[in-house]
Amino acid sequence: MKNKLPTKIITLTEENFKEALKIASEIISNGGIAVIPTETVYGIAASIYNSDAIQKIFEAKNRPMDNPLIVHISDPKQLNDLTDEINETSRKLIQQFWPGPLTLIFKAKEGVDKKVTGGLNTIAVRMPDNAFTLKLIEMTGPLAAPSANISGKPSGTEISDIFEELNGKVDVIVDEGIVRCGLESTVINTLINPPVILRKGTISKEMIEKVVGVVTFSSPGEGTISPGTKYKHYAPGVKTTYIKKISSPDHFNLLMGTISKDKKIGIIHFGLDIEGSYKNIKIENLSGNPEYASKFFYRTLRKMEKSVDEIIILPLPEHHGLWISLEDRIERGSDKIIDVI
Ligand code: TXA
Ligand code: MG
Repeated sequence: MKNKLPTKIITLTEENFKEALKIASEIISNGGIAVIPTETVYGIAASIYNSDAIQKIFEAKNRPMDNPLIVHISDPKQLNDLTDEINETSRKLIQQFWPGPLTLIFKAKEGVDKKVTGGLNTIAVRMPDNAFTLKLIEMTGPLAAPSANISGKPSGTEISDIFEELNGKVDVIVDEGIVRCGLESTVINTLINPPVILRKGTISKEMIEKVVGVVTFSSPGEGTISPGTKYKHYAPGVKTTYIKKISSPDHFNLLMGTISKDKKIGIIHFGLDIEGSYKNIKIENLSGNPEYASKFFYRTLRKMEKSVDEIIILPLPEHHGLWISLEDRIERGSDKIIDVI
């Protein structure tokens, strides 16, 4: 059993911003690992130039070593240390979406740590849109940072959700409150034509297509191309069922009637007209606004798994843009998917 690290907690304010940067950058430069904010979800960061620190990230998360990390940079110029080739499609996407929640795949430069790339000859890079983290990277150089959560659990969108699972495993936690987006970055491979979205995320397919024309989604079974997507992901700790479509309000009432009264059920819905109160049923309305729903989705799952025996997720209102990414996470986190009731 390893000794626990004395984790330092910094609640970021305007007043302590510079001091926090100093502390976090020193920790990282000395081979430590830090929970840092980004616009999408919190990350666990280490210097890409310190192999032992990278190893600590995998241990803290209990992450399989073949699942590569995203490198976070503060200036596109830093790409020159990571790859020798930036194609035209990538240039356009960088111009449009960086800093922001889009991760691009490049051919990795000789000498890049194999722990970062999971042994692949490609490297995933993004420039996050977060003032603290951009400044931090200016001080430390590029940071490898997977989402802040134990592997297989929903990504951390606020510190109280991940404190128990990461306290004692990282050197410092920088708490900036709830993140802005709540779903991870979109990962796209532009090394092939048409480009392929390997992981759906905050930037939608439609937004990308406006800039570079047609792109596709990777199909199931292509998991080894983006190693992370082959593992069970984003799952809460209690049985979760996703109902994709309700064909009539009567069917919904029937469903509520059949729910076991001995169990506590959590229902997550997206702007349906079902307020009312049902005994032993906890209802969360994530609204019909996709930005709002995405921002609070993981947090709602994490809060619910602590207070109910089972979760039921009701249909999304629409199927385009950000809703598609949210549905991907819902499906990955569900034990059971019912097409229609
Ligand atoms: O929004 C985000 O992207 C957050 C924040 C912290 O930046 N990070 C994040 O990292 O979600 P992580 O490690 O949880 O997910 C990274 C994903 C995984 O699915 C991984 O397999 C994929 O990116 N990935 C990393 N390098 C890759 C590569 N060279 N080729 C294909 N997929 C790669
Ligand atoms: Mg993750």
